[in-house]
Amino acid sequence: MRSPTNGRSSVLPDAQDKRAVVEAMFDRIAGDYERVNRVISLGADRRWRRRVVDGLGLRRGAVVMDMACGTGDLCRVLAAGGYRSVGIDFSAGMLSHAKNTGALVRADVCMLPVRDRAADGVTCGFALRNLVDLSSFFSECARVLRPGGRLAVIDAATPENAVARAGHQLWFGHVVPWLGARMSEPAAYRYLAASTAYLPGAEELAAVVERAGFEGVGLSALMWGAVKMLIATRP
Ligand SMILES: C[S@@+](CC[C@H](N)C(=O)[O-])C[C@H]1O[C@@H](n2cnc3c(N)ncnc32)[C@H](O)[C@@H]1O
Repeated sequence: MRSPTNGRSSVLPDAQDKRAVVEAMFDRIAGDYERVNRVISLGADRRWRRRVVDGLGLRRGAVVMDMACGTGDLCRVLAAGGYRSVGIDFSAGMLSHAKNTGALVRADVCMLPVRDRAADGVTCGFALRNLVDLSSFFSECARVLRPGGRLAVIDAATPENAVARAGHQLWFGHVVPWLGARMSEPAAYRYLAASTAYLPGAEELAAVVERAGFEGVGLSALMWGAVKMLIATRP
């Protein structure tokens, strides 16, 4: 990973390198990914994923595409909720560790090999900060959703409250890289901790989603604002 020119942390790659760096990084950490997630979220990530699936509010049997599905954690929660999941990710390593999921497709979520209006729902868990272009991603989500289709997205965030922000900085800035270094690859968990800097604030994110063609955007904060969820509808 090279030093960025945009003033962000030096563990974050330059824009032109980001796609390749992220894909190679997830290929390398795929085998450890779920185990480390459980530890760094203190087991709460499963509960957050259920919130995402509950937020869809679609009929049983609806087709839900899980963007940047990784090892398929969210796909399994979708299946448990009665949905038919299609997981999409560009990391062959992450997909090769996906077990008991529905259909899996290897593709870039900003250029989906999917026909218009093919999905009833779209989900995306903890992947937004890894994408190069959020506008093209949400435009693709809008394109593949049928009218009335639902979008539910969750990602890490920086808490607004000063006390929560200090605790968050301690955990994500120090403890997570330390744990990641012991359980997996040090550079990857330095990147994951720093990469929330790529994300816009909640209001700005909502505006990107609206401009991409969604309405009824709702935001909720979990874990004192360290995790944010966004729900929207394709008109
Ligand atoms: C932090 S993991 C999240 C995995 C999964 N969604 C979860 O909830 O655990 C981020 C995932 O995004 C994928 N990813 C990043 N950019 C992508 C892109 N442009 N197209 C497809 N997958 C992408 C990575 O390969 C990785 O599996």
